[in-house]
Amino acid sequence: MRIFSGIQPTGRKHLGNFVGAIQQYVEGQQRAVDHGDVAIYCIVDLHATTVAYEPRELRERLYDTTAILLAAGLDPERCVLFRQSDVQEHAELAWLLCSVTSHGDLNRMHQFKDKSAQQRELVSAGLFVYPTLMAADVLAYRAHDVPVGDDQRQHVELMRDIAIRFNARFGAGADGEPQEVLVVPEHRIPAVGARIMDLQDPTRKMSTTGGSVEGTVYVLDEPAAITKKFKRAVTDSDNEIRHDRAAKPGVSNLLELLAVSRGTSIDEAQASMADARGYGDLKTAVGEAVIEMLAPVQERYAQLRHDEAALEATLAAGAEKARAIASDTLADVRAVMGVGPVAAG
Ligand code: AMP
Ligand code: TRP
Repeated sequence: MRIFSGIQPTGRKHLGNFVGAIQQYVEGQQRAVDHGDVAIYCIVDLHATTVAYEPRELRERLYDTTAILLAAGLDPERCVLFRQSDVQEHAELAWLLCSVTSHGDLNRMHQFKDKSAQQRELVSAGLFVYPTLMAADVLAYRAHDVPVGDDQRQHVELMRDIAIRFNARFGAGADGEPQEVLVVPEHRIPAVGARIMDLQDPTRKMSTTGGSVEGTVYVLDEPAAITKKFKRAVTDSDNEIRHDRAAKPGVSNLLELLAVSRGTSIDEAQASMADARGYGDLKTAVGEAVIEMLAPVQERYAQLRHDEAALEATLAAGAEKARAIASDTLADVRAVMGVGPVAAG
């Protein structure tokens, strides 16, 4: 069972990214090895060019993201960690997959609607075909399992449709039997923590772009800032500590964060607050648990981030391993699509 996921090197990584995605990546590297396969994680700088951005800053954020992933526990000896633009097969496959991507489907993507509404100057064609590039990321590795947060559900559905359409259109073997040229992947969305909400507005997801700074806890926030953000978290007017996403979004979000940062269930988190005197105690408890979860990550990050040459070397080694897999897939894709010369041998 091969695992693939991607993360953008934009903005600062927050608690939603950490529990919705990064923790799953770390857990996935052993799961893949146990199944005799590999987990592949990609920092998607090409995706980051689809909205307005500053080139110099992109490279800085790329190093930040690489260092956060390593600090969180990704081990380049056990997984493949690389930068998307280092493996040109992604861009080529994205173009080829455009022929089996429905324009109407792209038009229905929530993320496109949200992000295009936020653009001031230009809604780029890149933003529109973003999901096809994301499909290429995964399909180039014939991955089965795609760990993501809930907001990527629709994009993974679309990449499944693209793979199915590709196989149906181009996968007929010499005997006319359909072959699986591309693997149809599945999303892996965690049961708890797949949609962490903004602390100031618990009806909106925590996010780099749409949310509030006070309501967003960053992986690299100082402990004092984390405490303050949780203290000011929006809850509700009764004082019952109970998990009920619809009726009590703020309290439920805090309970989920308490559970994931302590590594317990939501029920256990709720039970641990049975003697609380009010929401203040819950906020203190979550703040402490989150600080404790992030402390070792922040410590390792501080050791890793300054050595950009070492980060580059890690990414280069990852890219080499990634390319070996992706180039095989691309050779098959070109062959069945009739693109380029007939393959030798
Ligand atoms: P991005 O930084 O947009 O590349 O997102 C990286 C990963 O974090 C993706 O798998 C997202 O689904 C996940 N993610 C982003 N925001 C949240 C959130 N508020 N809660 C849980 N997961 C999230
Ligand atoms: N679109 C994803 C996000 O914004 C990032 C991403 C790019 C990705 N390529 C991917 C996620 C491939 C999973 C698989 O979070």
